[in-house]
Amino acid sequence: MKPELLLQKAKQAQALAYAPYSGYQVGAALLCADGTIYTGCNIENAAYSPTNCAERTAIFKAVSEGQREFVALAVCAGKDGKTEQGCTPCGVCRQVLSEFCKPDMPIYLANPEGFDTVTLSQLLPRSFSL
Ligand code: THU
Repeated sequence: MKPELLLQKAKQAQALAYAPYSGYQVGAALLCADGTIYTGCNIENAAYSPTNCAERTAIFKAVSEGQREFVALAVCAGKDGKTEQGCTPCGVCRQVLSEFCKPDMPIYLANPEGFDTVTLSQLLPRSFSL
């Protein structure tokens, strides 16, 4: 699948973000090995710490539906629904992704000009696992 299509799904998911506290909307789209795409948005909370990031929303949706194999992730983020530079998955999301995704899985990060591609192992080298 073309990265552009996955990024388009992430952008659509960004529009569903519930982010009244930060005003920063994030959307993610996760491509499964069977071709299914699960999307997620950030879901904030008045107590702040229960906030769930877009990436974890997507992967938790997928895993809870029986998916275990993932081949790519796209992320799109920014204030006021814009696409801004520089949103990479947070440390907690990197660790959750590393539980299920291969180190060389591509992650497409949207920016105003297009997108960058990084791998999970670039974001989380020497990751912890049991
Ligand atoms: N956020 C995500 O959803 N994904 C990331 O990769 C980084 C941060 C959310 C959490 C919070 O709702 C808002 O962005 C500001 O930190």
